[in-house]
Amino acid sequence: MIQNMNDMLWNAKKNQYAIPHFNINNLEWTRFILEECEACQTPVILGVSEGATKYMGGYQTVVDMVKNLMDYLQITIPVAIHLDHASSYESCKKAIDAGFTSVMIDASQESLDKNIEVSKMVVSYAHARGVSVEGEIGHVGGQEDENNSGILYAEVEDCIQYVQETQIDFLAPALGSVHGPYHGDPVLNFERMKEISEKTNLPLVLHGGSGIYDEQIRMAISCGICKLNINTELQQAWTAGVRERLEVDKEVYDPRKIIKAGENKMKQAIRAKIELLGCMNILKNTSR
Ligand code: 13P
Repeated sequence: MIQNMNDMLWNAKKNQYAIPHFNINNLEWTRFILEECEACQTPVILGVSEGATKYMGGYQTVVDMVKNLMDYLQITIPVAIHLDHASSYESCKKAIDAGFTSVMIDASQESLDKNIEVSKMVVSYAHARGVSVEGEIGHVGGQEDENNSGILYAEVEDCIQYVQETQIDFLAPALGSVHGPYHGDPVLNFERMKEISEKTNLPLVLHGGSGIYDEQIRMAISCGICKLNINTELQQAWTAGVRERLEVDKEVYDPRKIIKAGENKMKQAIRAKIELLGCMNILKNTSR
């Protein structure tokens, strides 16, 4: 069933596990993720960036595709359709109007005041329609950023002020993770993560979930992370499967066969992450 992220992330916080956010890029990815998460009986957040939305044909196409696939595949697990890193109030509004159940407003490169101002507008529009909202403080860098030097660590006081003034539902504080492959070892500030979790009392989100060591992810969950965002690792797993097939089979030309060649490796990566996050079979276990 399609829903916002509230129940998923508050249950995760109460019971100290995390919910996976997997980015989708096309119909097949959506299908593979839904099928594997159903098999693992875990709720899932389908993250859709503005770029991926354009690629797939707009907000309404994404919502209709997910809903129709869920009907066709008889998916019963809770699923959130979440706009990842929206750059403006207008993007969030369009996504919400199309049926997204959750949005992330990312004004983290603006001043704190400006971030608060736009986040408040998004929260007001979203909450009136039952949609949950994630916001970012500090700034999570990316591949463009050699040495990961563009990371702006979130300050505790900024997080407290942001949460109080915006009434945001979930907070993604930048604490050392980056989008895409790491240059060197990931260095996360767990102490600050714990402090932000305790002082804001909100479920926290960790972006740039690919390439972080397993023990660091376990530690992050114990410090308040309830949602882990993963994109690159699934891309790498899928590509490895497709590359393998193309190398051994020089005759194949049917796109359905080529795209499907990435399915097994991608599903293995999904399952491994679900195990690590502690949410395997969470929906079967009624005591949680
Ligand atoms: P990775 O691509 O590093 O997994 O990050 C994904 C992400 O944070 C999406 O918001």
